[in-house]
Amino acid sequence: TLPMGLARWWLPVQAVAPVLVWVVLGLQPPVWVFPVVFVGLLAVYWNAVGEGVPLYLTNPKTWRAVENLLPEQPGVRVADLGSGLGGTLWHLSAARPDVRFEGYETAPLVFLFTRLRLLVQPRANLRLRFLSLWRADLGMFDVVYCFLSPVPMARLYAKARREMKPGGLFVSNSFAVPEVVPDNTIQVDDGRRTRLLVYRM
Ligand SMILES: C[S@@+](CC[C@H](N)C(=O)[O-])C[C@H]1O[C@@H](n2cnc3c(N)ncnc32)[C@H](O)[C@@H]1O
Repeated sequence: TLPMGLARWWLPVQAVAPVLVWVVLGLQPPVWVFPVVFVGLLAVYWNAVGEGVPLYLTNPKTWRAVENLLPEQPGVRVADLGSGLGGTLWHLSAARPDVRFEGYETAPLVFLFTRLRLLVQPRANLRLRFLSLWRADLGMFDVVYCFLSPVPMARLYAKARREMKPGGLFVSNSFAVPEVVPDNTIQVDDGRRTRLLVYRM
């Protein structure tokens, strides 16, 4: 990390940003471009503001690690809380046609993207809901997967414990529940050394 706790990847961002500002000002775009770009970014990063959860994506190696955690018996139900662009759900719903999947997402443009994706790449066993994860009934699911941020983890785990059936799995990509030891930790063999933290209810 750099001074002030900044991650190293901020260095190239800081280097490129002033050049981009200079290029954009040189292009003299019409003034409406700026609010349109702002609203577009807001519709994608909607939950960065209120929930402390931006958009970033689970990678394919981690999709397969999550797939390996799904119980083998038929009739299993799985939720992705904050389903993003749907990569995890599309992979899993193809790999396990016997399992029913549900995604929850409230960033408007991100949700719209997955709705359109469902038209182009239909999945009979996948349902997408424009609903906050806080309003999801977790009691319906055998496995709950999330990739969020440190901010919601304590509250979300408390909700999972209240609502999920005994034996259900609460799986968090990267972000641990404070002061709770996971029942299992899966180390994924990917570039960012992803860990899946598995909590059994
Ligand atoms: C880091 S992304 C993960 C996307 C996807 N699950 C994946 O792994 O590829 C987190 C997503 O959670 C969504 N999100 C955050 N808070 C939410 C909430 N309260 N209800 C629904 N979605 C939420 C964000 O909009 C974002 O798309």
